Amino acid sequence: MKNLGILISGRGSNFEAIARNVASGKIPARIVAVISNRAEARGLELAREMGLNARFIPSKGRPRDDFEGELRETLETLQTDLICLAGFMRVLSPEFVKQFPNRILNIHPSLLPAFPGMDAQKQALEHGVKMTGCTVHLVNEGVDSGPIVLQAAVPVLDEDTVETLSARILEQEHRIYPEAVRLLAEDRIQIDGRRVLLKKDSI
Ligand code: GRF
Repeated sequence: MKNLGILISGRGSNFEAIARNVASGKIPARIVAVISNRAEARGLELAREMGLNARFIPSKGRPRDDFEGELRETLETLQTDLICLAGFMRVLSPEFVKQFPNRILNIHPSLLPAFPGMDAQKQALEHGVKMTGCTVHLVNEGVDSGPIVLQAAVPVLDEDTVETLSARILEQEHRIYPEAVRLLAEDRIQIDGRRVLLKKDSI
């Protein structure tokens, strides 16, 4: 059974979706820590209510090395196998990422490689695409650039605002993020360059 560490900075709805799937047994893993770099993150409160190991590791006003050192030590002490970034608003350094090769997942609210970075839903609306969505990917040393595990497409409607579009994308995030975590927790993926393939014997 894999040990999951979940990193958040805010609302924590993706963390919640993963936690529910762990609780129901759909993801064969245990959550060893929910770590926020912001004390006021709603997700941290939620983690406490769920009786999980909720930790605040501050990043603000602190050298990155310090923050990442504490983060790494915490995750290693808890023997974390898999790290899920779930609305975690800090870019991890290449040095940190190298410590956990192909063991960090992130969710991004666009069909990568379109619209990486901040405000992906707003970028999609402003660009005028008719289809956007969300992507779960492995974290590499770039920003929103690692191998893609799962994606879901969401049409952009004429009447969409950033809020309505984000809400429909979020529904899909809550579906594909737990699914991707399950694939990794069950060791069902195989990485071939940039391609993430399902292992042949996995169906
Ligand atoms: C989500 O839209 C996710 O794709 C992005 O940040 C948002 C986090 O939402 N990376 P939540 O904290 O999981 O509710």
